[in-house]
Amino acid sequence: METLRLTIDAGDVGGEGSRAAIARAAEILRSGGTVAFPTETVYGLGANALDAEAVKKIFVAKERPSWDPLIVHIGERTMLGTVASEVSQDANRLMEAFWPGPLTLLLPRHPRVPENVTAGLERVGVRMPAHPVAHALLQAAGLPVAAPSANRFGRISPTSAWHVAEDLEGRIEAILDGGETTHGVESTVVDVRGAGCVIYRPGTITLEQLRSVCKGEVTFREELEESELAKAAPAPGMGMRHYAPRARLVLVEGVGRGGVELAMMEEVNRLEEAGEVVGVMATEGFMAALMLMRKKPFDRRGFTMGYNTVHVYHWGAWEKPEELARKLYAGLRWLDAAGVTVIVCPLPEPVGIGVAVRDRLMRASDR
Ligand code: TXA
Ligand code: MG
Repeated sequence: METLRLTIDAGDVGGEGSRAAIARAAEILRSGGTVAFPTETVYGLGANALDAEAVKKIFVAKERPSWDPLIVHIGERTMLGTVASEVSQDANRLMEAFWPGPLTLLLPRHPRVPENVTAGLERVGVRMPAHPVAHALLQAAGLPVAAPSANRFGRISPTSAWHVAEDLEGRIEAILDGGETTHGVESTVVDVRGAGCVIYRPGTITLEQLRSVCKGEVTFREELEESELAKAAPAPGMGMRHYAPRARLVLVEGVGRGGVELAMMEEVNRLEEAGEVVGVMATEGFMAALMLMRKKPFDRRGFTMGYNTVHVYHWGAWEKPEELARKLYAGLRWLDAAGVTVIVCPLPEPVGIGVAVRDRLMRASDR
């Protein structure tokens, strides 16, 4: 199949060209096709969430196993009633605080939602994206749209239309190109339990943000006591290698920024001496350290240094986890494309969105 490329004028989402692109994408969704579209987190691969046949196409295109449930996206609150059979007061409070935005809530599934959307589970993940293009598309389609990240299963999530094409060109009806996404890591998936909430997947909405709204305790699913875990709903798709580059990923930790930089340097030297082509997710400042400490001489001309055995991606400022989140997937893809055999990457501090970045890196590595 030929994949149609529809382009949004970033400076003029409401303009004529953009409106035509959105109308065309909405038409494809309404007629049972698949469309990749930007959200504020990552690009999603959408299909009509109320049409089991359309949803099946998502699983086929991504080569995604049928046990991994999809998130349903809605454009307005009135649509919630067609996908969830019940919304508690506490869930409502979270929606008030974070919708539209990168928060997915697990709610009791409405019988109209086909079982392949939730992988047979009784609850459905729902979110209302804040991205203007996603919002306009959902409004124009007038449908709830099931959409996982628009990558081949297990691989790195896409933060640009180019990334989507790399994985899915020829396998989906259209790509709606709305430029790079804003946050760069996926939504936070939360189960509301009375006044408290359980985080199934850390994401763009931070622990601190959830704590400021939830009246009860906020816990990570992994931290639940065994007896509680037995009662909790399953979390498919969470316990396996995911978000992974082709190259092996080596994660580095250290005490403070200096400690991290020293540990990074040791890894780079060790791997290079072992004959690997090394990719580096370099934070600002690490570049300077690299110049001082690298054993082999290097070339100052560009990103690719020395004897083409070290490739450096300028990731961002260590102190700005938002920047690290936004550029994480683009960096891993860039290093993969450079042909490295191993990627050395520091684990950011577990603060704010840094928690989600760490989570993705750990799942992407061999650990
Ligand atoms: O930001 C995002 O959430 C992006 C954009 C496109 O909205 N979507 C996304 O979808 O990341 P996906 O399919 O790549 O990740 C969905 C994950 C599942 O693997 C699972 O861990 C969890 O969300 N999930 C979804 N529905 C669930 C359910 N009913 N019960 C438990 N976990 C669920
Ligand atoms: Mg995904």
